[in-house]
Amino acid sequence: MCGIIGYTGEKQAAPILIKGLSSLEYRGYDSTGLAVIDHKHSPYVLKAAGKLSNLKDSIGNKIPDGKIGLGHTRWATHGTPNKTNAHPHTDCTDDIIVVHNGIVENYLEIKKELIDKGHIFQSETDSECIPHLIEEYIKENNSFEAALTSTAKRLQGANAVVLISNNKPAQIAAFRIGYAGGIVIGYGENEMFLASDLAAILPHTRKVAYLSGNEIAFVSPEGPYYIELEGNPIKKSPSIVNYDPLSAAKGEFKHFMLKEIHEQPESMMNTFRGRVKFDRKAVELETLPYSDEEISEIERIVLIGMGTSLHAAMVGRIWIESLAGIPAEIDNSSEFRYREPILGPNTLVISVCQSGETADTLAAMSEASNKGAKQITLCNYPGTQTSRIAESTIQIRAGVEIGVAATKTFTNSLSNLYILALYLGFKRGNITQSYFQKAIEELAHVPAMIGSLVANQGQYVKLAQKYARYSNFLYLGRGINFPLAMEGALKLKEISYIHAEGYPAGEMKHGPISLIDENMPVVSLIPQDNLYEKMLSNISEVKARGGKIIAIATEGDQEVNAKTDNSLFIPKVSNLINPLLMAIPMQLIAYHMGVYRGCDVDQPRNLAKSVTVE
Ligand code: AGP
Repeated sequence: MCGIIGYTGEKQAAPILIKGLSSLEYRGYDSTGLAVIDHKHSPYVLKAAGKLSNLKDSIGNKIPDGKIGLGHTRWATHGTPNKTNAHPHTDCTDDIIVVHNGIVENYLEIKKELIDKGHIFQSETDSECIPHLIEEYIKENNSFEAALTSTAKRLQGANAVVLISNNKPAQIAAFRIGYAGGIVIGYGENEMFLASDLAAILPHTRKVAYLSGNEIAFVSPEGPYYIELEGNPIKKSPSIVNYDPLSAAKGEFKHFMLKEIHEQPESMMNTFRGRVKFDRKAVELETLPYSDEEISEIERIVLIGMGTSLHAAMVGRIWIESLAGIPAEIDNSSEFRYREPILGPNTLVISVCQSGETADTLAAMSEASNKGAKQITLCNYPGTQTSRIAESTIQIRAGVEIGVAATKTFTNSLSNLYILALYLGFKRGNITQSYFQKAIEELAHVPAMIGSLVANQGQYVKLAQKYARYSNFLYLGRGINFPLAMEGALKLKEISYIHAEGYPAGEMKHGPISLIDENMPVVSLIPQDNLYEKMLSNISEVKARGGKIIAIATEGDQEVNAKTDNSLFIPKVSNLINPLLMAIPMQLIAYHMGVYRGCDVDQPRNLAKSVTVE
């Protein structure tokens, strides 16, 4: 969470920082700020509550001079999201200017100690203790470098810190401790960039290096040098980012979310490319580091993730059990990390984390590594922190996703889990060659089916007109569609602020059915699969109690159409791949409800795209 951008070079910093912030705003939008130094005047620091547009309005035409600077977009953890709590934060003398991502867990103790020494704090944030602490260490006759190492050692928690000093012309310093959001360093021609993620750097350079935990970077236009916390130098070679970030422009679409929903046929094809050989009906997973023998020795698979990625993992679990015949479990990363999970060398942990930065998933993955489990991760970006922990990464290749609600990263996580389950199943002899080949054949049609679903938006607009005034929704599904009911409810909550819960339909009689009345629309996921008859009974029970039913059914299903208030249809496919199609109505219902209610669907309140704190 929180977006960071830094620039040092020959150009004016402010326009570069503002452009960078616009590509980082999806990480948090409680407040924004920037600082620029020109060494003739005192540092120029400007902050605004709310979105970047407010900061731009306060700058107006008066672009500040200075060829080094920092920018920050905040997702608030400590202190209300107002102007005073916005970053950058400075020390008492305005010499040290800091932007921060993470949580300083021991900030109260540090703050008290610094106040006792005479420091005056302006904000309620944990971040502000960082510039004051650096100032204090410098006062104690430490060099700037030594003051930074002492500060980094003193802070507890997962933190990424980027700073400039009025006394260090042209130099940006940065350090990371623990698994806070990453720091990427971009190498230009006589200019350097630092950012919380690649999106802000790639418009300028593709040559990048990543700062790991417990490392410090000192970056000036001629280049960087790196040390570790004990002060020893580290050698770091930049790498070239080859993938093409999709344009961050909305183009013809009103919202990024809508654009990203429409991109799903193409993003799914991208993920198949080179992996699913439709001509030979084969799957090749060249990045999977396990021999056939190691695959046959896997005794158990544990899937982990958060939010939408957890829902993808829940579907993945069913695919792995059905296709690969391997016992599989699912856990929320934030729960997994704090229990004592029993793992060993024959357990494979599969994490789903599109951003590669989710703090809880990173911690859960570390736990799995420490316990000697095999580990692979699904991620949308190269070089992420999750990729560095896992033995192998399956790049889901969804392209940059700007909308805070996960859409194409969800369907691409699903399609990769399906391919993986098929691959493991075939390698272990759990499915026959003919089953395997038919499954691949069917998969080839899915992108076009998704294309037809996203093209048909009119019915969702009408649905929103009819239902957007309701305050509560239930989503019901069974079997492989239960995680999709959870996902539909999550999407509705985050985009339209309507309360919604996803339940396994069989659970209704155990409590939730008492909620049913004419004010409780129920979205029922009822494709013609092995649990169709059971779902039919469940919706009759809801109908009998006055509930309104919106069904997502298989094309041509007249029975469901007659029994429900509204029906939306998906093409007929085999039971196991229904989720790849079911995802689309879940996204479109939420999107159109949100738009109808006037919500900011790309940047819903209180959320951020990457959740880099616990
Ligand atoms: C999805 O719409 C959410 N914004 C959120 O639940 C997200 O899926 C979750 O934070 C996990 O993110 P990750 O894939 O980057 O780990």
